[in-house]
Amino acid sequence: MSTFDARSTAEQVSEGIDLRGKTWLVTGCNSGIGLETARVLSLRGAHVVGAARTLEKAKEALAGLPNPGSPLACELSDLGSVRGAVEAIRSMGTALDGVIANAGIMALPKAETKYGLELQFLTNHVGHFALVTGIDDLMTDLARVVVVSSGAHRYASERGLELDNLDGATDYEPWRMYGRSKLANILFARTLAHRFAKGGSQRTAFSLHPGVIRTNLTRHIADVDTLLAPMKSSMKTVAQGAATQVYVATQPGLEAHSGAYFSDCAVARTIPSGTDDALGEVLWGRTETLLAALG
Ligand SMILES: NC(=O)c1ccc[n+]([C@@H]2O[C@H](COP(=O)([O-])OP(=O)(O)OC[C@H]3O[C@@H](n4cnc5c(N)ncnc54)[C@H](OP(=O)(O)O)[C@@H]3O)[C@@H](O)[C@H]2O)c1
Repeated sequence: MSTFDARSTAEQVSEGIDLRGKTWLVTGCNSGIGLETARVLSLRGAHVVGAARTLEKAKEALAGLPNPGSPLACELSDLGSVRGAVEAIRSMGTALDGVIANAGIMALPKAETKYGLELQFLTNHVGHFALVTGIDDLMTDLARVVVVSSGAHRYASERGLELDNLDGATDYEPWRMYGRSKLANILFARTLAHRFAKGGSQRTAFSLHPGVIRTNLTRHIADVDTLLAPMKSSMKTVAQGAATQVYVATQPGLEAHSGAYFSDCAVARTIPSGTDDALGEVLWGRTETLLAALG
């Protein structure tokens, strides 16, 4: 399907693609592969709405882009901040051609909670769910939603989404809880894709694993070198790490794959629960209920 692979960069996969007149929202625009994604979309002509935890961080990140962007404050673990971001996007009066839900945290050493929700699940899944569903009506007819998951979703395999353990208090384990949040990312994208299709929309949604890239994501890991040593030969640069999300966001002709999970610029397999549509609907309903209860 694709001529690109694990070594392709975000610039290579978007070569020749003209994004002038398009607007893309990128979360986590100030660091790692989110910053590179924002830069390359901008390089191709897109207007980037760049979201970071604070307006200052977003402004600083966008200042380095080839084209002017619009900075946005969006602290994903603060639902008031997410609502504020939704309103700020609304007041921009610009239709969105796509969203890259890229921001994330990984492997918090101890269980941290807010609103009674484990922080990785809240930040990586619930915050993005609230943001994306909040701006649904601002998306163009052909908009794409790209949710950055991880191959680490497999760490959730034994216990799955643990919807009876949303605060993570039962046997907290950093990687299992990160995996749970990343499995939720996959199911969110898949369920969103189904819902778009059922509603007669041509919009699409995808999830992906970007590869293993040394970024600030490892900030909570005590010995990063030891963790990454076995993966050294397959690790990607930041330019390569941003490639799959830029590919999925911009490559024409991916519509037939809406709902799929990508890796190395190609459709890839998830663990079995990653394609469990009934589970995806359960997660969707539960997330909506949580958000309604949290006001
Ligand atoms: N790097 C890898 O090997 C790898 C592998 C698989 C999947 N991923 C996924 O790739 C995505 C990007 O990660 P990265 O490697 O580029 O890491 P990164 O450099 O740490 O970037 C993460 C971004 O998310 C933002 N963020 C974190 N918590 C947030 C919150 N509560 N509200 C709003 N923004 C928040 C960070 O903001 P601050 O800078 O302000 O903290 C930063 O901009 C993540 O979803 C990650 O799970 C990465």
